[in-house]
Amino acid sequence: MSKKSKNLEPNTGWDFDPAPEKVPVEIKAQYDLFIDGKWVKATSKKFFNTINPATEEKLSEISEASEKDVDLAVKAAAKAFGSWSKLPGKERAKYIYRIARILQERAREFAVLETMDGGKPIRESRDVDVPLAAAHFFYHAGWADKLEYAFPGLKPKPIGVAGQIIPWNFPLLMAAWKIAPAIACGNTVVLKPAETTSLTALRLAEVFEEAGLPPGVVNIITGAGSTGAALVNHPGIQKIAFTGSTEVGKVIRRSVAGSGKKLTLELGGKAANIVFEDAAIDQAVEGIVNGIYFNQGHVCCAGSRLFVQESVREEVLQKLKFRMRSLILGDPLDKNTDVGAINSAEQLKTIQHYLSLGKKEGLEMYQNAGGTPKKGFWCQPTLFEDVAQSSVIAQEEIFGPVLAIQTFRTIDEVIQKANNTPYGLSAGVWTDKGSKIFNLTSELKAGVVWANTYNKFDPTSPFGGYKESGFGREGGIHGLAAYLNLEG
Ligand code: NAI
Ligand code: MG
Repeated sequence: MSKKSKNLEPNTGWDFDPAPEKVPVEIKAQYDLFIDGKWVKATSKKFFNTINPATEEKLSEISEASEKDVDLAVKAAAKAFGSWSKLPGKERAKYIYRIARILQERAREFAVLETMDGGKPIRESRDVDVPLAAAHFFYHAGWADKLEYAFPGLKPKPIGVAGQIIPWNFPLLMAAWKIAPAIACGNTVVLKPAETTSLTALRLAEVFEEAGLPPGVVNIITGAGSTGAALVNHPGIQKIAFTGSTEVGKVIRRSVAGSGKKLTLELGGKAANIVFEDAAIDQAVEGIVNGIYFNQGHVCCAGSRLFVQESVREEVLQKLKFRMRSLILGDPLDKNTDVGAINSAEQLKTIQHYLSLGKKEGLEMYQNAGGTPKKGFWCQPTLFEDVAQSSVIAQEEIFGPVLAIQTFRTIDEVIQKANNTPYGLSAGVWTDKGSKIFNLTSELKAGVVWANTYNKFDPTSPFGGYKESGFGREGGIHGLAAYLNLEG
């Protein structure tokens, strides 16, 4: 029992035998671009490193796609659109089912790779990211030949080439969210993963090859912001789907304006997680922990603002801190780990900046004690108590394991406070009373409201925001509509 994970000083009195995942995963020294069904060298001849944020070790070199490469990918997708869009839905479905099944077969490999490249705990990649990604392909395969039933009388037709740009917090899952509905509806795709987490999207291209997906239906190009901008501005794109920061979302919206391109944006959030005095407090505490410390808080719908009714403030805080102390931070490949690595040095800097702003404002900060591994990027689970509504900690998206706690007395007060944010992506409500749940779901300006649970995702259920959290929905019938031209 005395063995410890490499570099890890446990932050609890407990001690676990380290059990890192041992599935061998081959990672190439360099990755090319996946265009027109082939692996091609970037014309830029430039590469950038992708590292493991838990160890800072270099994993591989990723190609930087230039404007010319983006053009080649868009042209390949446009050419493929001709035949893919005319293929009967039931034939498209066969490919998509095949992709889903291969993803399931290779699930462990994908989970390990996702954890190595992005820093999230293996338990999450294994139990959430990869199975949900497969579920998205299964679900949308089922729609491919039923679009006329989904939109009766509306003659659903594919839009064309979709340019898709995704972030680093759920790399494989976001690729699945975007690609599955697009190709189920008969569109073709050029997808760009985020620069710190390209590996699982590139491996997904291998799955497309294995599934025999016709060349050009999905093209994967890698690179940073300038590659993304070249994709957004390419005239051969008819639809753009973006998930990422509100800042970049605004830039994209401006550059698309007047171009006739369809656009959906899934941006930031600052969700209210609301605990009433009549809630099952132990369950609520689990929901608070899951809401903010899942995936190190790198979650657009994270429950980053906790509103707790005054009468149960002490109880909730005490139980929450107790539960926080049992969270194990460390080697993301270890299945005992609850809190993995922060995705990048930049993101860690952002989080630390907010921690110091909170302290400067004089807020009471509680953070798990205990060391962090010597290499890599880490932040212990943190909370700020009695945060004022005007505090930067309560207003801005931190995108890290940092919870802002506020209290309330009445339901009207909490509705007003919860909605007092530029964002509107998600919210959580913990109460014993169905009537309160109904009241809040209609009053809270959030695309998703969870009741007595948090961070539950399912391909059948639409996801998306209001206000600065973006517009358009992903998942369910609403998600399909975003990839179709619908005429009466
Ligand atoms: P980001 O918005 O810059 O990156 C997201 C994606 O957009 C990446 O693939 C990136 O390469 C691409 N991109 C960057 N500039 C672009 C441009 N001008 N045109 C087209 N594509 C572009 O996010 P970043 O800088 O990694 O994170 C900053 C903050 O954004 C985080 O701290 C967090 O608050 C928020 N964020 C929110 C996410 C969400 O799921 N809502 C995901 C990632 C970040
Ligand atoms: Mg990486």
